[in-house]
Amino acid sequence: MSAGFEIVPLPNSPFGGLVRLQGAAGPDYTQAFIAAAEAAPQAVPDALYRYEGLLLVPGLHGIRQDPELLVRLSRLFGPEVENYHETLTERSKVHETVKEILVVSNMPPASKPPPALPDPPRRADGGLPMQYPHRKGWHTDQSYRRPPPDISLFFAAIAVPKGQGQTLFANCAGAYEALPEATKRRIADLDGLHVMPGSNRSPEAIRDGRPPKPLRAHEQPQRQPLVRIHPVTGKPSLYLCEHGQMDWIEGPVVGLGKGPESEGAELVRELMHHLTGPDFTYAQDWDDGDMIIWDNRCLVHAATWFDADRHRRLMWRTTVRGNPGREYDGEERSWIPRREPEPA
Ligand SMILES: [Fe+2]
Repeated sequence: MSAGFEIVPLPNSPFGGLVRLQGAAGPDYTQAFIAAAEAAPQAVPDALYRYEGLLLVPGLHGIRQDPELLVRLSRLFGPEVENYHETLTERSKVHETVKEILVVSNMPPASKPPPALPDPPRRADGGLPMQYPHRKGWHTDQSYRRPPPDISLFFAAIAVPKGQGQTLFANCAGAYEALPEATKRRIADLDGLHVMPGSNRSPEAIRDGRPPKPLRAHEQPQRQPLVRIHPVTGKPSLYLCEHGQMDWIEGPVVGLGKGPESEGAELVRELMHHLTGPDFTYAQDWDDGDMIIWDNRCLVHAATWFDADRHRRLMWRTTVRGNPGREYDGEERSWIPRREPEPA
């Protein structure tokens, strides 16, 4: 315990921590939490690294009224909180007054639908399907950019009822550690090829004959190491996505053939199945006011379906960047166009 924070292992999860501020309650809890976190600026980030890249902070209802508090909390995790006005993000998906907040909501103007397909059928034991390929959609945020971001903070302003609209997390460092030594050696120097979702480079798009979308210079697929060394903890971690966020035309693994039947494709499927197994996964069933902080350098996540006809959902996300690791030293940002003007 430090700085009045109580930090315990996250219940019902093989990894992650649960953070509360002791001695504070009521309408000023959120303000008190942020003030305490700023007064001891390493306390919450240190907990994030100690608990393997995942923290749940419940009860931050005050962010709903004062969204700047989310940006203040985000600043503790790195040198730069992404300004979505500067990174070609559709304005309808950016908070009206706070340009560092991405709005993930089925309400206008963001109007983002839930994952297209209803949830896969429950497992035979009644449990929530989490493991790839039964569950699909696992990704790490913005892996189609170099350098990729470090940390995401995700806040539930309006959650949907429990049992739907969950966010699933998998621990890529723990999954790497558990791999057979032969697999670790095999993947040590391989790169995956990542691409923006919606580019029609997924196995399904290829199978359905959908033509790949032309990509401009700053939208090109990006190589990322299959194994990343975490710049803070020094731990190696798997770093990959699956269907829509990898390029299955030129990849998905550089040098291991091309396309959904390639050796690289089989490797991605095998690693993703391992990574999303029960020893490494957690399902967050949201309450209003919950905040989840996760480290994109060593976790993947996925969204589950919710009934968008019956329920409103309003989530706010920030992205923190600036410490991707030595692999990316001195690189220019791949996703910022050099000469083309930003669209109005
Ligand atoms: Fe995401």
